[in-house]
Amino acid sequence: MIDMATNFNSVRPILNENFNKVYIETYGCQMNVSDSEVVLSILQPQGYSLSRNYKDASLILINTCSIRENAEQRVWARLRELNSLKRKNRALKIGVLGCMAERLEAELLDSGLVDMVAGPDSYRTLPQLIDGANSGELAANTILSQEESYADITPVRLDKNGVSAFVSIMRGCNNFCTYCVVPYVRGRERSRDPKTILEEVKLLFESGYREVTLLGQNVNSYCAGENITFAKLLEQVALIAPQLRVRFSTSHPKDIGRELIDTIAAFPNICKHIHLPVQSGSNSVLKRMNRNYSREEYLQKIDYIKKRVPNCSISTDIIAGFSGESEEEHQETLSIMREVGYYTAFMFQYSQREGTVAAKRYPNDVPPKVKGRRLQEIIELQNSLSLLSNQNDVGQEFEILVEGRSKRNKEELFGRSSQNKVVIIPAKGHKVGDFVKVRVTSCSSATLKGEAVE
Ligand code: 5AD
Ligand code: SF4
Repeated sequence: MIDMATNFNSVRPILNENFNKVYIETYGCQMNVSDSEVVLSILQPQGYSLSRNYKDASLILINTCSIRENAEQRVWARLRELNSLKRKNRALKIGVLGCMAERLEAELLDSGLVDMVAGPDSYRTLPQLIDGANSGELAANTILSQEESYADITPVRLDKNGVSAFVSIMRGCNNFCTYCVVPYVRGRERSRDPKTILEEVKLLFESGYREVTLLGQNVNSYCAGENITFAKLLEQVALIAPQLRVRFSTSHPKDIGRELIDTIAAFPNICKHIHLPVQSGSNSVLKRMNRNYSREEYLQKIDYIKKRVPNCSISTDIIAGFSGESEEEHQETLSIMREVGYYTAFMFQYSQREGTVAAKRYPNDVPPKVKGRRLQEIIELQNSLSLLSNQNDVGQEFEILVEGRSKRNKEELFGRSSQNKVVIIPAKGHKVGDFVKVRVTSCSSATLKGEAVE
């Protein structure tokens, strides 16, 4: 027998034959991964265990992303594929969670492909929604909340390495960048009670985890009472144990301040990596995007980071072909990339999202071919910047946290440096969860190879 009450406080999933099986497939950002873990935590006490294979499950939950059109198209294609399983097994129920559930509740229910729809703030009601679906209703809850932060729920981890975990510290977004659907589908920003964050991180550390990533759409506006800024929270998390690495994502350039950068500099276990989405290098585009910073202000913050934390790596997000983007404006994006020297970037073509300010105010007027060509130029430039950044690391020493075995070669392990770069080393006596000091011996634009040093 498994004791449900004690399991509720455990970080590991139940994989048990006698339970109903739930399969959870997650699309999109790290926040969705974290939400899927909350969902599993809510379902386990209801008698559900995790299935690693969707074909064994009696309940399939798809946690979805709406950020770009193609993210939604992938989910529709997956739902059509799963529909053939449903035709064979009438008892199988399929639920859609997350941002698409919030945005497209009616279309999803009308499609005949799903039994249940639950928006990001309604996961506590999943047991009732599942009961409804099991008695043949089309069950849905997409009410957004001003308060829900799932603060009291200990997520059951879906990762397989048991080494690094995501910890959600806030939900929603108040920034309304004009292209972005997030504020509409995830609601207003709310910060989670710091006490529950610290407890969750302590439990993870005691369970063997050695790295946490604090998650929020804009962590810099974390606010839990007058004196608890994000920098203070980060400091408290870092103080839990010197052997626990701390990361965070995502920072907004308009809000990242010196206090945070000084905190990163002060604690060896706060990773020396900042993800700072620039989106565009052009002031006029940044204005149309409602980003609330200029190219110059962004670069000043980068200068401060480079001065205070010289070994800090910087990554970014970039959108190619936003509404009205001219060739000169595109060139400014390329030039800011060179100026900062990002070690990596997430790069996208602009996708117009219904209901956003940009969709109402600005035409989606950069032709697809031009968008594609500009994105290609951005990717090619980034590849050369990544290669340069990696070449600089050759011959240098880093401490990596080993996360797993290399897929290509079983005799090799991979881990991440504090700078968030993947380093591959010969396995020789090391195991997942070890901190290993390595010297980088060679590189490509995507990875570093190294060897352990004494
Ligand atoms: N089109 C393209 N990319 C987008 N992003 C957000 N909205 C859109 C959109 N409509 C990108 C931004 C953001 C990242 C998470 O996704 O770069 O930082
Ligand atoms: Fe979207 Fe801007 Fe909020 Fe990020 S900060 S989630 S891009 S609205």
